[in-house]
Amino acid sequence: MTTTGGVELKRGLNGVYLDNTLISYIDGNIGKLLYRGYDIHDLAEKSTFEEVLYLLMYGSLPTKDQLQKHEAFMRENRAVPPQIFQVVELTKEAHPMDVLRTAVSALSAFDKEVDDFSPDATRRKGLRLTGQAATILAGLFRIRKGLKPVPPSKTLNHAGNFLYMMFDKNPDPDEMKLMDVDFILHTDHSTNASAFAARVTASTLADLHCAVVSGIATLKGPLHGGAAEAVMKMSMDIGKPERAEEYVKELISRGGRIMGFGHRVYRAEDPRAQHLRERARVLGERRGQPEWFQILQAVVKAMEPYQKRGIFVNVDFYAGAVYHLLNIPEDLFIPIFALGRIPGYAVQVLEQFEHNQLIRPLLNYIGPMDLQYVPMDQRR
Ligand code: ACO
Repeated sequence: MTTTGGVELKRGLNGVYLDNTLISYIDGNIGKLLYRGYDIHDLAEKSTFEEVLYLLMYGSLPTKDQLQKHEAFMRENRAVPPQIFQVVELTKEAHPMDVLRTAVSALSAFDKEVDDFSPDATRRKGLRLTGQAATILAGLFRIRKGLKPVPPSKTLNHAGNFLYMMFDKNPDPDEMKLMDVDFILHTDHSTNASAFAARVTASTLADLHCAVVSGIATLKGPLHGGAAEAVMKMSMDIGKPERAEEYVKELISRGGRIMGFGHRVYRAEDPRAQHLRERARVLGERRGQPEWFQILQAVVKAMEPYQKRGIFVNVDFYAGAVYHLLNIPEDLFIPIFALGRIPGYAVQVLEQFEHNQLIRPLLNYIGPMDLQYVPMDQRR
């Protein structure tokens, strides 16, 4: 906190509580994350993305019957209107995050419930957007290769369907589970920058599509969603484990940052990271490319001295290696994070609408005052 002219500034809104929430709890000092009271470790290991979405959207774990209906709704609401693929075709040269943001924005023109702000309609739209965003991204992946998008599966779960629409073949069960866990880990993280952006948008009583577009836009930056892509680039630059220590020292001595490390709220290891660490190792072995995991572990070792400053691995550190090993191109890493996070935006918007107040902080003006306006012909 700094003080300027008697005003207490909390730059980056660091340490500021915006509201109460019933969605996620984070204890950054011990690396604890709960969704609706349930530990992320239990959810990652024992649950499914669909069940977690139900939990987040409705506040409690579903019964068998509730889950079946919810899964059926998700399976039936994955397709996008053909015009959306025209938008993808027109924008396919842009960064996939920009394509996704634009196509999700365009979806609002086709969603009949766009102006319905009721909790049920907001849930339905959130679930539709979750499925449709995966269809858009997989479609982009294929359109860029000159291939036709694969229509969504009517039987696979969300994670399996995403891999199926990308690669046009039934996914390997282990890889499907890995993708499912990855989506669970990314679904919500309290007032992260992009969910905050979604809440700010919703607080003006703009609709869910607007809020999700704000969220996607905000997620793009390398300090937030862009880290997984940057981690993979860094691993390629490092090239072999023996070079990691020198690379880390050199980058930090220049004031640079090691991507996939550090977090605004965690002063311990991000609890989400461990679920991708072992899976990244196993996937690397299975695909005959163990070197990526070895490079990452060498970076972790080189970063040990920075733990005393509270800088530990975050969720994005292993995510990049996982996506790379699944043959997913680097520029799709951030949009995949978005696929997991979109339902999180919807849940936060639901909560924002429940007891909405316009979010409008202050800026402390420190510029000149009462300057005299000079007409153009008298300016020099
Ligand atoms: N590598 C090296 N030093 C770091 C790192 C890092 N990854 N992260 C923080 N630091 C250092 C900063 O240089 C700073 O040092 P200083 O006090 O000597 O200037 C100090 O730690 C505090 O850094 P801030 O940026 O003030 O801390 P903040 O809480 O705002 O940073 C952030 C959080 C932006 C995530 C930061 O750790 C970072 O840039 N990490 C790399 C990018 C990254 O991995 N982002 C993904 C975050 S997780 C997610 O969004 C899902």
